[in-house]
Amino acid sequence: NAMPGMGGHEGHNMAAEPATPAAELALKEGEPLRDLPRLANQATEAGRFRASLTAGLAKANFVEGLDTPILAYNGTSPGPLIEAFEGDRVEIDFDNAIPGEESTIHWHGMPVPADQDGNPMDPVAAGAKRVYAFDLPADSAGPYWYHPHPHGKTAEQVYRGLAGVFLVKPKTDPVPAAYSDTVLFFTDLRLGEDGAMPESSMVDLMNGRVGDHVLVNGQKSPTLAVGLGTKRRFRLFNATNARFLRLSFGNAAMTVIGSDGGLLEAPVTVDEVLLAPAERVELVVAFDKPGVVQLATLDYDRGWMGPGRPDDAGLTLLTVNVSETPAEPAPPLPQKLRSIAARGTSAVRRRFVFTEKMGMGAGGMEMGFFINDAAFDMNRVDVVAKAGETELWEIVNKADMDHPFHVHGTQFQVIENERDGKVTPAPHRAWKDTVNVARGETVRLLLKQERPGLRMYHCHILEHEQLGMMGVVDVRA
Ligand code: C2O
Ligand code: CU
Ligand code: CU
Repeated sequence: NAMPGMGGHEGHNMAAEPATPAAELALKEGEPLRDLPRLANQATEAGRFRASLTAGLAKANFVEGLDTPILAYNGTSPGPLIEAFEGDRVEIDFDNAIPGEESTIHWHGMPVPADQDGNPMDPVAAGAKRVYAFDLPADSAGPYWYHPHPHGKTAEQVYRGLAGVFLVKPKTDPVPAAYSDTVLFFTDLRLGEDGAMPESSMVDLMNGRVGDHVLVNGQKSPTLAVGLGTKRRFRLFNATNARFLRLSFGNAAMTVIGSDGGLLEAPVTVDEVLLAPAERVELVVAFDKPGVVQLATLDYDRGWMGPGRPDDAGLTLLTVNVSETPAEPAPPLPQKLRSIAARGTSAVRRRFVFTEKMGMGAGGMEMGFFINDAAFDMNRVDVVAKAGETELWEIVNKADMDHPFHVHGTQFQVIENERDGKVTPAPHRAWKDTVNVARGETVRLLLKQERPGLRMYHCHILEHEQLGMMGVVDVRA
């Protein structure tokens, strides 16, 4: 490992970076919230979902009269919404039509076999195809998503537009259907004056790229009209590269019903939620007063290096207009949603320490992001684990910004966090595949990989993942 401070394979030179253009363009706003287009199931027999996804160049129109070149799945960004059921066999024909770039499709949060999970070790060359095939096990219902994972290109392919929702539905859903299931898929966008997305700057690489506009289902600040007394189920996805979304529906009552890996055991009333990059949450929101309700951001300081921390407070992401006309009365939310078995006791305890290094090197300002002092190496195994064995993972953040920790192929249970020597147990059981580890904090979780193969774990600020904050666990039978 040559120069510590070099993030893996590549160094970056501050002086050579172009300045970030100012965000002066007026995006279209205030249109009705659209439903994401669905990926049609081409299979004719029950229990099977088969469809094609092509990643390639496309155009979007965020600003009247100005086209933005993007990357898209089947021509649309966010990608088409995939909906399948527990127990289904899923087969996706993937066609990489991105000129000159490798890609993959990673099934974020889903229990798919390692060789079907779109790992950086399994790239699909430009112009090549492959099939991803996997079964959705019982009790795997949840709000998952998909995005590329090619080595060194993930961050860019995602901010250019490649990401979509994968909903796994249960055979019977305890949440009343009258709550109408509404996806809110958050991405963020930066546009240059020409309408194109500028390349990432040094500040973007350090902090993760934060766009100038937060989009919901690809729209800026859309609107939704509901009747008085409506209860809505919202599934929120943070698909931004690096933005932390601390969110509130103002004075409309919010109840958390689910996390990354599906429903909680029981609803939990909250005033706000914090969604780190890649996290999901499911909410029921009650619109009990006529008038305007806004889903808006609150300030969250996740640590920042270099100039220009974006002021994220007070962005309106969605405006809900609640009419005077009452909605059809909806049944109450059941007090028990599901059972989540405890992860049990761990035979193995492991520690992962997140650090950053910034400093002057031969080529100017250099930086790196490390786990246990090592930058990612595709050809190195960092951890060897045994399939079916529960492990306790301790994630220690010694860096000066928050890093959301993610692991592939499984859902874990957070048991506690520790800060300044004070240990706080997790308030309830939940399935998670991504958890924020705030600066100075330690998070402990119980995790079990059911299947053999290579699995990635990494910071889900995608620029940090690219600059080295990723490792490989080899799960053996
Ligand atoms: Cu969504 Cu390896 O990540
Ligand atoms: Cu993942
Ligand atoms: Cu990070």
